Amino acid sequence: MHWPFCAAKCPYCDFNSHVHRGPFDEDAFVENYITEISQTAILVPDRTVKSIFFGGGTPSLMQPQSVEKIINAIATKWQLANDVEITLEANPTSVEREKFQAIQMAGVNRVSLGVQSLRQGPLEKLGRLHSVEDAIAAVKLAQEIFPRVSYDLIYARPEQTLDEWRDELNEALDLAREHISLYQLTIEAGTRYYDLFHAGKLKMPDAELSAQFYELTQEICEARGLPAYEISNHAEPGQESQHNLIYWHYGEYAGIGPGAHGRLLIEGQRHATSTERMPFKWAEYVSQKGDGFVEFEALSKGEQGDEYLLMGLRLKTGISPERFEKLSGIPLRQEQIDHLKEIGFVEMLANGNLRVTDQGFTVLDAVVADLAA
Ligand SMILES: C[S@@+](CC[C@H](N)C(=O)[O-])C[C@H]1O[C@@H](n2cnc3c(N)ncnc32)[C@H](O)[C@@H]1O
Ligand code: SF4
Repeated sequence: MHWPFCAAKCPYCDFNSHVHRGPFDEDAFVENYITEISQTAILVPDRTVKSIFFGGGTPSLMQPQSVEKIINAIATKWQLANDVEITLEANPTSVEREKFQAIQMAGVNRVSLGVQSLRQGPLEKLGRLHSVEDAIAAVKLAQEIFPRVSYDLIYARPEQTLDEWRDELNEALDLAREHISLYQLTIEAGTRYYDLFHAGKLKMPDAELSAQFYELTQEICEARGLPAYEISNHAEPGQESQHNLIYWHYGEYAGIGPGAHGRLLIEGQRHATSTERMPFKWAEYVSQKGDGFVEFEALSKGEQGDEYLLMGLRLKTGISPERFEKLSGIPLRQEQIDHLKEIGFVEMLANGNLRVTDQGFTVLDAVVADLAA
């Protein structure tokens, strides 16, 4: 469920997020989610929903009753698994006790908070509207109210040193419970950071320093009992996010809301869907034709194989070569695997899966491109 609104646009972020000023009829906007859910359920009936993820944007800006209406609509159209994971992304500026409690009552059982940094100067440079104290208070409040809580940090930031990150990460792990997401800052086209970077005004770590940041992060998190299960996600064993795992295991998911992507199996054929990005244009499409799809495409075998590699190789459990062959219709090329093994970028696991090594993770895009080519 993509909620596309934010209080302000962060200069590094290229998510489909919009700052809306002026009147806003949230109830009417939410009706479109309910319509799109009904329409999607016609395409993929009889499913058990294992995870619902309110992402954004800033879903913690939603009224709790909007969250509740959407969860109820999903429960009406599909079966919810007994242990369904229902996550909502929250921004430390838009949470308070009563709101969190109401969101929990609506059915949300997991919160993911965008903390980004535990240092005031960097937070300001990242354009965040909250202080370090606000962020810590939000995490602690969430931990009181929700059974599962994760939070996001961004590292390998301009000017950051390894020693500074070591201290910040250790503090972050003191605060964290069972899950944390640690993202290396990436410069995305179309953002303010992109312009600053290309004007020479943001000094980003070079490839070697980035690799050191990554390795240090793995070392500390492993020693503290939160090993990586994916390139940027760390959890106590058993506390991995189901939502994330569905993506990376190349499962089936419906993307509802503006700018949401889905992968739906319709009569055995995997389809890619995506919806109109502009919130009010999306709403208009949904009220006219029942959904906001601007893409609805059957994926070829080759495309499915490539997507499986792109997703699955992010996981520590790796990919199954048999599943790759089933999806793509051709086996992985042995000489490519041998070459990547030789230079230490991939390894075979006892269960026959192929996975990227820690060293390979520092150049993951290149490894994926090599195997997919
Ligand atoms: C949709 S946002 C999170 C929720 C909420 N809007 C917030 O910012 O608190 C998902 C996460 O992606 C990460 N992120 C966004 N842009 C990034 C970038 N350019 N580089 C690295 N991480 C990024 C941030 O950690 C952010 O919390
Ligand atoms: S990082 Fe979060 S709050 Fe900032 S613009 Fe992106 S989605 Fe919005």
